[in-house]
Amino acid sequence: MNLEPAVKYSHTLLKPIIAPGDTVVDATVGNGNDTIFLASLVGKAGHVLGFDIQQQALDETATQLTLTGMTNQVQLIHDGHEHLEQYLAPQQQLAAAIFNLGYLPGGDKRVITHGDKTLSALTACLTHLRRGGIAALVVYYGHPGGEQEKEMVLEYVKRLDQHTYSVLQYGFINQIHEPPFLLAIQKR
Ligand SMILES: C[S@@+](CC[C@H](N)C(=O)[O-])C[C@H]1O[C@@H](n2cnc3c(N)ncnc32)[C@H](O)[C@@H]1O
Repeated sequence: MNLEPAVKYSHTLLKPIIAPGDTVVDATVGNGNDTIFLASLVGKAGHVLGFDIQQQALDETATQLTLTGMTNQVQLIHDGHEHLEQYLAPQQQLAAAIFNLGYLPGGDKRVITHGDKTLSALTACLTHLRRGGIAALVVYYGHPGGEQEKEMVLEYVKRLDQHTYSVLQYGFINQIHEPPFLLAIQKR
């Protein structure tokens, strides 16, 4: 068994807690890898809400969903994740949420996630997270603006009440450059 990179480990943590019929959020759809993963777990009776501000990302993901026969359970939303609350009914419970921070691989590196918007979305996700549910953030921070977002997010999650949330940080600490790390927040 090899230790998994942060992105892979986010899937390892989410897989056992998502069941067919669940509702989950992909806050940063990008090329759709997480969206497809989530769609396969919630199944046709479930629901994935996927957000991205770049139409290019949503179009690519829509194509992948069509090819894999999973369009029905996914709602692709061309809007910022900071508006997430508007798309959830007040009592809607989430099994999980996933964020990949940074820029779209292969896309415009100037279009990045920003700490204030990320934290608005994360706050909404935590409000709706069911007990045992997990919000996972894969934090890429080696780009301009990335360090600032990283600090904001770390500051926020460190302050979450330990009686309500368990907060995990996972990542390799002996790699060159700035390897991404995972933050996983589970509602107790
Ligand atoms: C690191 S990429 C996501 C990678 C993706 N999870 C994948 O599997 O390919 C980050 C994405 O967040 C998007 N993004 C940036 N700001 C956003 C916002 N406010 N709301 C939603 N998406 C945003 C970018 O357009 C970009 O596609």
